[in-house]
Amino acid sequence: MHRNASRRLLPACLAVATLLATGSVALAQSAPATSSKIKVGFMLPYTGTYAALGGAIENGFRMYVQEQGGKLGGREVEYFKVDDESDPAKAPENATKLIKRDQVDVVVGTVHSGVQMGIVKVAKENNTLLIIPNAGVDEATGPLCGSNIFRSSFSNWQPGYAMGHVLADRGLKKVVTLTWKYAAGEQSVKGFKEAFEAKGGKVVKELSLPFPNVEFQALITEVASIKPDAVFVFFAGGGAVKFVKDWQAAGLKDKIPLYASGFLTDGTLEAQGVAAQGLETTLHYADGLTNPRDKSFRLDYAKLYKLQPDVYAVQGYDAAQLLAAGANAVKGDMSRKPEVIKAMEAAKVDSPRGAFTLSKAHNPVQDFYLRKVDGRDNKVSSVAVKALADPARGCRL
Ligand code: BEZ
Repeated sequence: MHRNASRRLLPACLAVATLLATGSVALAQSAPATSSKIKVGFMLPYTGTYAALGGAIENGFRMYVQEQGGKLGGREVEYFKVDDESDPAKAPENATKLIKRDQVDVVVGTVHSGVQMGIVKVAKENNTLLIIPNAGVDEATGPLCGSNIFRSSFSNWQPGYAMGHVLADRGLKKVVTLTWKYAAGEQSVKGFKEAFEAKGGKVVKELSLPFPNVEFQALITEVASIKPDAVFVFFAGGGAVKFVKDWQAAGLKDKIPLYASGFLTDGTLEAQGVAAQGLETTLHYADGLTNPRDKSFRLDYAKLYKLQPDVYAVQGYDAAQLLAAGANAVKGDMSRKPEVIKAMEAAKVDSPRGAFTLSKAHNPVQDFYLRKVDGRDNKVSSVAVKALADPARGCRL
């Protein structure tokens, strides 16, 4: 019995000895497992008020990979998914599942700024590559920035800052803000205020309600009682649909000008209908751009998903483009992390929004468009701020 076992082991031992002698073991261990796949972990909301946003991000990401024949850096892509429910309390556990249980090479997530804080923490602890395809939380490319943390979207500061410029340039003086009370709303208002007040405007009242509450009535009444020159808001997804309809139902649409970061009307126009017509917003994407990349992106997306793309689909598509830049540089060997990161940092992303590069803190430096709702379109009117870079306050990279 023993003799048989040792006879069976002998060829294997000899093979190991030969490999050791030739140094091939080290090679066999460090060479990329060319047959293995790049593991992508989507941590996105698939339920709740941001469900449609998560779906669009995944659609955009998958479409880009499909355009590359299903491979990045020569390796097939395998997907893992977690529904983060836009619940910050569950974020560390959900991110850990993808990183420890599924052993993903990269986490792509998420939408909600509060959830993002949990993902950033876990990604930093494990030195896992993270691409943020929406959540604008300023800290991710500010004080919590990291060499492994990238964003294909925006910082909360950016679209608010762009609208602050627009309204100050129009000579408005007295504005009320209204948002969900969490980082996305609060930081949008901060960006808005910074630009608006620097040019002589004044935010006279900051109103908020908890996320994802949609009982807007009392706050809408309060805005009306203040009689400001305008109101600036942050809402997105299902909550944005309800807010725009409630604003019109309260009879304020033609009385107090309503402005917002573009999330208020992106991916929501079909449901908002007439209530949204004429609304002006600022965002890093718009309908009616003329770059060739956008034309083909929109045609292909509509054909593949029987849906019109929105900013979230663009951000998902560009997250995949960013990952491709890293994966291609190392021929799919994602264990060569410093080289992956270097290539991603240097990428010029040929985005449907217009080409962009990344700041030192890994946030897109990009144009912010002023858009106006016309039918089912957020039609581009002008570039509100060209090549706007987040100030990345507190980032040491
Ligand atoms: C955020 O939480 O960062 C966010 C959510 C939806 C749209 C834009 C930003």
